[in-house]
Amino acid sequence: MRKILRTTLATVAGLTMTAVASTPVLAQADPPGQTAAPDISVDDVMGHLDRFQRIADANGGDRSSGSPGYAASADYVAESLEEAGFNVTRQTCTTCTSPDDNIIADWPGGDASSVIMLGGHLDGVRYGPGINDNGSGSAALLEVALTLAENDPATAKHVRFGWWADEERGLNGSQHYVASGAANDVEAYLNFDMVGSPNAGYFLNGSQPYTDALGAHLTESGKPPEPTQECCTDDIPFQRAGIPTAGLFTGAGATKTPAQAQKWGGTAYRPFDPCYHSSCDSYPSNINAEALDIMSDAIAVGLWELAVDDSYSPARR
Ligand code: TRP
Ligand code: CA
Ligand code: ZN
Repeated sequence: MRKILRTTLATVAGLTMTAVASTPVLAQADPPGQTAAPDISVDDVMGHLDRFQRIADANGGDRSSGSPGYAASADYVAESLEEAGFNVTRQTCTTCTSPDDNIIADWPGGDASSVIMLGGHLDGVRYGPGINDNGSGSAALLEVALTLAENDPATAKHVRFGWWADEERGLNGSQHYVASGAANDVEAYLNFDMVGSPNAGYFLNGSQPYTDALGAHLTESGKPPEPTQECCTDDIPFQRAGIPTAGLFTGAGATKTPAQAQKWGGTAYRPFDPCYHSSCDSYPSNINAEALDIMSDAIAVGLWELAVDDSYSPARR
């Protein structure tokens, strides 16, 4: 189903650009020497979120570290990636508050000494299904990974994805990964923690050139990003190890200012996510589809910019 839909869209884009008005930037012909990133289907990202919600519903209402909801989430992500052709590794986090697995997925190919790694935490808090925090980043990453597998472009750099255990009790899964030495070949780490906040902000943190790669699509979409002051997420262990990072974020419990509401839309004096760390962080009510779509596409644009071989022209479909 996904393949048929995408092929149709690609064909339509080749014939008439007005037919895909929702993604004009992505649908444009490749500039010389550059391979355009594919559109990420927000419907397919939503499908993964629906699955996370049903996993929580079937497992006592949450997906927190140490819970059966976490284990089922990890199985869903790992099995989807294996089916798509990723080399999936389960790294048991022995230093986490409970021995859960980080899910690591390597896409074959690219320069193995220069890895572009993308990740986000898969666990939620104890109360609630954890849909925006962080089903959203987990689902967006999963769909970007599956789309990479479908498109199968030549990659200049090796691409790796990670879904972390036990972020909520202290960044433990990502810390374990970095401490294990497994990140020693990582050139840069890109983090996605909360990318569908209902009253969305468009936040981008990190260092160049990775921030430029992730921010390009936000600016193109009329959502020029700014850095967040909210703390903290899984980029920190990587930064402490001297690995450059960048990350996208739509905001947690902090309040949107009038200037931000002017710039991005939404409601001033209200939190970016009024259900942050609450049981109402559920699907579909606590997800902003526009923000999730823009952020998912921004991840793909960043990944293609940083890792896909610019000298390669994919076969026209
Ligand atoms: N990591 C936090 C959580 O899961 C949310 C958060 C706070 C955040 N500040 C951030 C996410 C900055 C990304 C970037 O509860
Ligand atoms: Ca999209
Ligand atoms: Zn959280």
